[in-house]
Amino acid sequence: MRAARWAMEVFVTRRIPAAGLRALSEAGGCTVRQWDSDEPVPRAELLAGVAGKQGLLCLLSDRIDKEVLDAAGSSLKVISTMSVGFDHLALHEIKKRGIRIGYTPDVLTDATAELSVALLLATCRRLPESVEEVKNGGWTTWKPLWMCGYGLSDSIVGIIGLGRIGQAVARRLKPFGVKKFLYAGSRPKPEIAAEFEAEFVPVTRLAEESDFIVVTCTLTPETEGVCNKDFFCRMKKNSVFINTSRGAVVNQEDLYNALVNGQIAAAGLDVTTPEPLPADHPLLSLKNCVILPHIGSATYATRNTMSVLAANNLLAGLKGEPMPSELLL
Ligand code: DGY
Repeated sequence: MRAARWAMEVFVTRRIPAAGLRALSEAGGCTVRQWDSDEPVPRAELLAGVAGKQGLLCLLSDRIDKEVLDAAGSSLKVISTMSVGFDHLALHEIKKRGIRIGYTPDVLTDATAELSVALLLATCRRLPESVEEVKNGGWTTWKPLWMCGYGLSDSIVGIIGLGRIGQAVARRLKPFGVKKFLYAGSRPKPEIAAEFEAEFVPVTRLAEESDFIVVTCTLTPETEGVCNKDFFCRMKKNSVFINTSRGAVVNQEDLYNALVNGQIAAAGLDVTTPEPLPADHPLLSLKNCVILPHIGSATYATRNTMSVLAANNLLAGLKGEPMPSELLL
């Protein structure tokens, strides 16, 4: 008896690194349709593109909701997102339909932790502001009280979400002379926390005691808006807030008020709501707020690896095999 021919159709929602696309096209039996652009796929193209496909390779900027799943129809077997975050996926609807999900944890941990540390240092030592002063003639002489910021030595660092990225951030910050690590999250993780002698505390205490706060948690209904007015009011006046997880963890209006009113010293954000943040957004007018365009995982090597992992997750799911990284619901 001849083996049944393996023939699957997949839709890829964006131009991705060539290595990922190659993995799909070299698999044999996998027909790829792609929105071959650096810009997001228009909604109508997404709905049309996914129709009748068995696989979908998407990005964190694609909202995969009931409408998309309905447009795909019952043929859709696997969704593979080229991201560790999965808050853009309607998990309940996906689970109901028995669709498997692949994602890309681990491979972006180092790059994202590195960016978190870079953003923290840029924010607490006022690097963008200082660079601007050099360019605009504000640098007139060496001044004892000019462009001073806050250093990590002897500080207390609070990490919201001591997962893979949170741990990698703590590991990188420790050699800067951090005195104590605090962490908050859904549950204590004593084995993991032991490496940093980190103490599990309620998020309110973390806000009150930390000199630096780094948010690296997953966006869930529990973490949405957790950094709000009450949180910022509890923070020390000379403390620095960093978010490299998802914008929706933060109430941005409350953050703006905290920065303007001097409730906190500064903030560094790699993630915002919405993304991109409109160029006239009030947060962008503040010198004590450093905003990056969601580049946590943006190294060439990491993005290559993410694309290959996303492709391999998709292929394995389509073949009914174990995925290298499956999101188990
Ligand atoms: C992810 O993969 O979810 C990250 O936010 C990308 O940097």
